[in-house]
Amino acid sequence: MSRPVPFVVRIALAAALAALLALVLLLMPRGTSPPAIAQDPSTDVEAKIDGWLSRMTLEQKLGQLQQLDADFPTGRLRDDQLQLVREGRLGSTLNGRGAVPTNAAQRVALEESSLRIPLLFGFDVIHGYRTVFPVPLGEASSWDPAAAESSAAIAAQEARAAGVHWTFAPMVDIARDPRWGRVVEGAGEDVYLGSVFSAARVRGFQGDDYSRPDRVAATAKHWVGYGAAEAGRDYNTTDISERRLRETYFPPFRAAVDAGVASFMTSFNDLNGTPATANPFVLRDVLRDEWGFDGAVVSDYTAFRELINHGIAADDADAAQLAVNAGTDIEMVSRTLAENGARLVADGRLSEATIDDAVRHVLRLKYRLGLFDRPYVDASREAAVLSDPEHRREARRIAGRSMVLLKNDGGALPLSRKLNKLAVVGPLADSKLDMMGTWIGDGKEDDVVTVREGFEQVLGRRGVRYAQGCDAVCRSSGGFGNAVAAVRSSQAAVVVLGEPWDWSGEASSRSQLDLPGRQLQLLRAIAATGKPYVVVLMNGRPLTLDWAARHAPAILEAWYPGTEAGNAVADVLLGRVNPGGKLPMSFPRNVGQIPLHYDEKPTGRPFDPANKYTSKYLDVDNTPQYPFGFGLSYTRFALSGLTVTPNSIAPDGEVTVTATVRNTGRVAGDEVVQLYVRDRVASVTRPVRSLRGFERVPLAAGQSRQVTFRLDHDDLSLIDNSGREVVEPGAFTVWVSTSSVGGLQGSFTVTG
Ligand code: BGC
Repeated sequence: MSRPVPFVVRIALAAALAALLALVLLLMPRGTSPPAIAQDPSTDVEAKIDGWLSRMTLEQKLGQLQQLDADFPTGRLRDDQLQLVREGRLGSTLNGRGAVPTNAAQRVALEESSLRIPLLFGFDVIHGYRTVFPVPLGEASSWDPAAAESSAAIAAQEARAAGVHWTFAPMVDIARDPRWGRVVEGAGEDVYLGSVFSAARVRGFQGDDYSRPDRVAATAKHWVGYGAAEAGRDYNTTDISERRLRETYFPPFRAAVDAGVASFMTSFNDLNGTPATANPFVLRDVLRDEWGFDGAVVSDYTAFRELINHGIAADDADAAQLAVNAGTDIEMVSRTLAENGARLVADGRLSEATIDDAVRHVLRLKYRLGLFDRPYVDASREAAVLSDPEHRREARRIAGRSMVLLKNDGGALPLSRKLNKLAVVGPLADSKLDMMGTWIGDGKEDDVVTVREGFEQVLGRRGVRYAQGCDAVCRSSGGFGNAVAAVRSSQAAVVVLGEPWDWSGEASSRSQLDLPGRQLQLLRAIAATGKPYVVVLMNGRPLTLDWAARHAPAILEAWYPGTEAGNAVADVLLGRVNPGGKLPMSFPRNVGQIPLHYDEKPTGRPFDPANKYTSKYLDVDNTPQYPFGFGLSYTRFALSGLTVTPNSIAPDGEVTVTATVRNTGRVAGDEVVQLYVRDRVASVTRPVRSLRGFERVPLAAGQSRQVTFRLDHDDLSLIDNSGREVVEPGAFTVWVSTSSVGGLQGSFTVTG
């Protein structure tokens, strides 16, 4: 039998225990252990979130829904923002980055606030963090989703090493109006190509598990219809039928959801009378209820407050009420919710359950990112990851794969390897900043290899004559003489033209798509020398090339190739890399043709040159200058032997299409074999052709390969007039081709 412990001993023991505990607490680094609820492995994430919700004040909940813009140049949070963190009133930031600044801010969240929920650092890692890859439209020209996955994975690795958890990419807006500057940020005009690239980019950023130290959470943006801005003017209104939303604008977002994307960003535009940020149809009915998306939805920059300008909110409180009730979780930059949320709840205009729902999405993202377990980044890794030479090698490789050879008369390209005096001229030939394009993450101008430098590395400095001619805006012809002289004293010229980097991207719409300023005049002056020359274009959208398309011997569309621009351009022009890219967007002949996309609907009066009353223009062809899917090579390819089996299937059946592609030229090269389909007669009108498969096939000279595609329900279905997705009986045409024009043609039937 145990003896009772005397009272004094019990007191002494208790005192000793308390002292020990106090000592332990004192010695423990403050705040390094998050509250027990975050660490308890026995409760699953949802239960942990419930625990948080039951203990958070309304103000703290509103804090999780607030995102603010850190100081862009330094990546640090400002003092007033750190104070909000201390008070538990800031859940995430954008533009905060760098291991040291983000760790410092995280320490405030975990050690100086009573809440101790880790901060979330978002950033626009669009086509690279430190190593800049080709702009997304350029990368889509590779028709190589593995390349997009690889560049996104490298960008994720660099970003996460620099403390960034969350990228606002990929942008998956279908874009059919090149006046809109943001076409540069996506994968172009096509639903299928756009969906494939959407999924690839999500996979690249996130991998299987974005809590890993080399991955980030991705964002599908901008939800939705942003690319349909009227007249191509950024932020402008859109009016899009539900059919078109579902057929054209939704699919790349759906592909992102299927690939497990962590978050969505709302778009700035008004959509059918209700701005997207406050649009319950797209945010709740489609995204949450139909698609079952359980990630976070962030507004675009100040889009809450802009609901006032849209004219659907009278004031900030109204704006917050509309956006949150519609299903947007996080308010970026404006503070309408933080400042009015409590009153809205008190007045019954916003329910706390709705707020809880939004907070749940944010905490879920933080858990999935592993932030409760590993809130800090290992600062000692940052420098090595950001300067990994392998990243630059991959950037060079992908840039080469992204270039599209638009014209090559008489084999003007590749340039002769015997050249020892080359003029490299033009406004973009030596412009480091321009070569990176819009959204450069944390890219550094000094890291960029220009075209001039790329050729100097091959030919030596004495082998290259450089003259700018004019700057990219090209208002003055004062420098043309020097450029012409450089060309005259050389054996051949590379003329690098295009748009200044900030002429595409956000808020960079144009009403004319010609080469800027007097660039064409510069080109004509160079052409007039009679020296052989080739044109390299760097631009963020399809341009109207007109004279250049008719007269320049060769045109290489390089887009904005990124950090390794000059090396990649030299690789291609010298034939070390054979261009194999294809256009992801049609190049119009003139602006009046816009919007112009290959998968147009048929009309009741298809163009017939013998009949005036058919669908056409009086002053320009219907066709583009360069069609979607088009791109040349230094070799030639031939397609043959199309098979379509079986030639009759049930609506849930599958068709296999094969063809053989052969490299009939003398050098190795890649051909992108493309599969298009058309439903001939259906209950609703169907596009004249739709891309449903592609493969970029590398072939040695003389080599051939059979390419196989499968078409199933997803490829053949349409949305009927009662909203059902069905495959209707009838005849289908298929084409296997090397662009959206022509090709081998076959057919099959779907039986009833
Ligand atoms: C853009 C978004 C971007 C956000 C944050 C906005 O102006 O529309 O695409 O992610 O800013 O930088």
